[in-house]
Amino acid sequence: MSTHNLICALDIGTTKIAFAIANSSSKGIEVLGLGRASHFGVRHGVVVNIEAVAEAIQKAREEAELMSGLRAEKIWVSVGGNHIQSFDSHGMVAVKGREVNGDDIARVIEAAKAVVIPSDRQVLHVLPKDFKLDGQEGIADPTGMTGVRLEAAVHIITGNQAIIQNVIKSVERSNLQIAGLVLTQLASATAVLSADEKNLGVSVVDIGGGTCDMITFLRNSVYHTNCIAVGGLNFSNDVALGLRTTQTNAEEIKKKFGAALADIGGLNDESIEVESVGGRTPRSVARSSLCRVLEARSDETLRLIKKEIEDRGFVGKLGSGVVLTGGGAELRGLVEMGDFVFDMPVRKGLPTRVGGLADVVSAADFSTVVGLLLFGFEQEKPRIIAREQDPGLSVRMGEFGRKLKDFIARTI
Ligand SMILES: Nc1ncnc2c1ncn2[C@@H]1O[C@H](COP(=O)(O)OP(=O)(O)OP(=O)(O)O)[C@@H](O)[C@H]1O
Ligand SMILES: [Mg+2]
Repeated sequence: MSTHNLICALDIGTTKIAFAIANSSSKGIEVLGLGRASHFGVRHGVVVNIEAVAEAIQKAREEAELMSGLRAEKIWVSVGGNHIQSFDSHGMVAVKGREVNGDDIARVIEAAKAVVIPSDRQVLHVLPKDFKLDGQEGIADPTGMTGVRLEAAVHIITGNQAIIQNVIKSVERSNLQIAGLVLTQLASATAVLSADEKNLGVSVVDIGGGTCDMITFLRNSVYHTNCIAVGGLNFSNDVALGLRTTQTNAEEIKKKFGAALADIGGLNDESIEVESVGGRTPRSVARSSLCRVLEARSDETLRLIKKEIEDRGFVGKLGSGVVLTGGGAELRGLVEMGDFVFDMPVRKGLPTRVGGLADVVSAADFSTVVGLLLFGFEQEKPRIIAREQDPGLSVRMGEFGRKLKDFIARTI
């Protein structure tokens, strides 16, 4: 692979920043560098301390650059949190020629975008659901079809402008250029879902530190997004309160000994050492006590997700069930509990479809950053293919740019 097609990604999560650098070709992407840094600059997916986030971005970036030996410039960035809203819209245009072409599709999507959006909101994505040509419904791609009247149903995703501006500011402080902003759960779903799952119907839930970000696909299209302001930090807080220990120790024992089901394989007999607060001597606690605390929170969280699926009328429509990803999905027994609560097939989603450091990024808490790489790759693919087919193109474009600059400099 040549090293001219870098794709870089930055996931700004509640508990950590993840930064990835990949090289790409028409065949796919190869992750070459990965960095992560913890921070306290985000609450429930929203930046609340630009300085702290910028510092963590810089740290994660340096790690990824050192590992890859490459320099990141343009990056794809995640945006999430419960300021995100999404809704359906509809557009209609007359087909210009005899057959529908790319220009007609772009115009009908533009027409669907023409809805009144409050001035404090910013459009993140306009995702086509399906097209209708002269009344014929359910067309996935009308390119080349004959017709007169083209209609499009789209799903529009917006976010709060001020909150998005704070994400942009945090990134720009690190002298990075933003290639695009991508909804967190859309990125995660891109990394963990197969085409079949999207087609059959599936809900992906990214259980992060501060939020559960949901996205639902039916017939290959996004039908719904939602954010529940509960995440792994709530699980750890419950452990800290329930077992009277520090936040740090609660986080540690949750990951090491925790499970979503208290009666999971013989845990009742085991005991674990728990730090006490205020420098008191550590205590020995039954592992099942830890798991009972986690069981209550797991059950409540999964039921909130189930309610959302029910309220939106998706029961019976999700042929591929539910996919849990994000660091929170690593809790032992959570997938098994999900099977029972949702009464649907549930699996854990790990990022796939990348080469290079595939083993390193194959963890549920890297779904978003890997998905950002894949999303960026899909957008940049036509340019990458064009460059591969005509390697002189970028050199000539560079020369053209230089001549244009000289011309402008001479004329002003
Ligand atoms: N093995 C594990 N068992 C239980 N919880 C885990 C495990 N590994 C990670 N977690 C939890 O996952 C959470 C972090 O997940 P992740 O890195 O996906 O979140 P984030 O992207 O920082 O936050 P968010 O997506 O909510 O903004 C933490 O709360 C952590 O405790
Ligand atoms: Mg996350």
